[in-house]
Amino acid sequence: MYNYINLDPAKCDFIMVAESSELGDNERLMLDIEEHPIVLLRIAGKLYAIADKCSHDGNMLGDGNLDGYDIECPRHGSYFDVRTGQVKGLPAAVDIPAYPVREVNGWIEVGIPKDT
Ligand code: FES
Repeated sequence: MYNYINLDPAKCDFIMVAESSELGDNERLMLDIEEHPIVLLRIAGKLYAIADKCSHDGNMLGDGNLDGYDIECPRHGSYFDVRTGQVKGLPAAVDIPAYPVREVNGWIEVGIPKDT
C-alpha cells in the first residue's frame, strides 16, 4: 500500500526537485513535496525516495545512519529499506512510503501519487 515505486507513472505527478549534479553518491536531500516529507538519497549511483517520517512515532529519518540500503531512525532505532520503505526492525512495525524517482534531462524528479 505504501510502496509507490511500481505505480503506473501516469498515476503520479512527477515533481522536479533538484539538478542531478546537486546530489552526489551517498548524499541526501530533505524535501517537502505537496505535504509529503521525503528524503532523497543516492546510493551506488541510484536514487531512492522514502518518507522522511518514521512509522513508529513520526520522527524524521533523513539524518539516520545508513547501513547498506537500510536507514536507521535516530530516535528509537528502527530500520527501513530505502529501496522499498519496508520496515526491517522494531519498534516500528509498519512500512513507510517509497516513491518513484527518475532523472530527466539532468534533473531529478520524484513521483507523488495523484490520489494522496
Ligand atoms: S520514532 Fe522512529 S523508531 Fe521510534
